[in-house]
Amino acid sequence: MSATVFYFSGTGNSLIAARSIADKLEFARIIPLAGLAETLKTDIDDDVVVFVFPVYAGGPPVLVLKALARLKFVGSPLIYAVATCASFAGAALDIFAKELKKLTSQKLAASWVLYMPGNYPPLREAESSSEILNKFSVADNHLKQIAAAIAQKKLCRSQTLFSFVNRLTEIFWRGFASSVAKSDRRFRASNQCVSCGLCATVCPVGNIVLNKSGRPVWQHRCEQCMACLQFCPVEAIQFCWWTKGRRRYHHPQVTPEMIAAQKNQS
Ligand SMILES: Cc1cc2nc3c(=O)[nH]c(=O)nc-3n(C[C@H](O)[C@H](O)[C@H](O)COP(=O)(O)O)c2cc1C
Ligand code: SF4
Ligand code: SF4
Repeated sequence: MSATVFYFSGTGNSLIAARSIADKLEFARIIPLAGLAETLKTDIDDDVVVFVFPVYAGGPPVLVLKALARLKFVGSPLIYAVATCASFAGAALDIFAKELKKLTSQKLAASWVLYMPGNYPPLREAESSSEILNKFSVADNHLKQIAAAIAQKKLCRSQTLFSFVNRLTEIFWRGFASSVAKSDRRFRASNQCVSCGLCATVCPVGNIVLNKSGRPVWQHRCEQCMACLQFCPVEAIQFCWWTKGRRRYHHPQVTPEMIAAQKNQS
C-alpha cells in the first residue's frame, strides 16, 4: 500500500494526529497542505490518501480547500478525513466531502472527528493540564482505531450531524471563511513584545512581517490558526481585549519550527 497523509495545523494537534496515523501505515509519507495551496497542480497516485485538519467555526480551514483544488488524483484512491476539534465539529467533514467531490470528483471512504484540546482563546481559555491529558489519552486510543480502519481500507459511515444543523453551521462557516483573511486586523502586540520574531517565523502561511521597531505587522492573508498568539513566548499577542490573561495552548510535543516547516515543504 502507498499512502499520503496531508495535514494542516496551527498549534500541533492535527500535526501529531497526522504523524500518528502515518506511523501506523506502511509506506506512508506526510505532506503539509500549507505549501501546496499556492502551487501548480500536483499529481497524487497513492492508493490511500488521508487529510487531517482542525475545525474552524464548524468547517474546514480555507487553506485546506485551496490545497484540495491543487491536487489531481490519478486512479481511484481511498480518501479519508480526520477533523480535530475541541468539542463541536459542526459541518467540517460534510463541507470537506462536498468540496472534495466538486474539486476532484472523488468521494470520501470514511471520516472521523478527533477531540483534542481547544486552541481558540477568543471563545475559551485553554483547558487545565488534567483535562488536556485526559483528552490526549482518549485521542490516542481513537487514533489507533482510525489508523487500523485505514490500514484495512475500510469503508465506514462518516460522523456527521443531522442535515438541518449542518446547513445552519455551514452558513455560519461561510461567513467565517469569507472574512478570515482580513480578520488579523484584530491582532495586537502589546508593549511586552521583545521583538524576537517568533510570530513571523511560526506563521504557517507567512502572514507576519516585523516593522522597523521589531513589532509584528499582519498582512491580511490570515487563516486564524492562532499559532502566532499561542507560541509568543511572552504572551504579547492578543486577538481581542478579553484574550489577555487567558491560559494559552499548543501541543506540548510540537515546537514552533515544526509548525513553521509547513510553509517550506510541498
Ligand atoms: C479559528 C478557530 C476556530 C475554531 N472553531 C472550532 C469549532 O467550531 N469547534 C471546535 O470544537 N473547535 C474549534 N476550534 C478549536 C480547534 O479546532 C482545535 O483546537 C484543533 O484541534 C486545533 O488544531 P491544530 O492544533 O492542529 O491547529 C477552533 C480553533 C480556531 C483557531
Ligand atoms: S513572538 Fe511575541 S515577543 Fe516575539 S516578536 Fe512576536 S509578538 Fe513580539
Ligand atoms: S497570522 Fe497568526 S493566526 Fe494568522 S495564519 Fe499566521 S500564525 Fe495563524
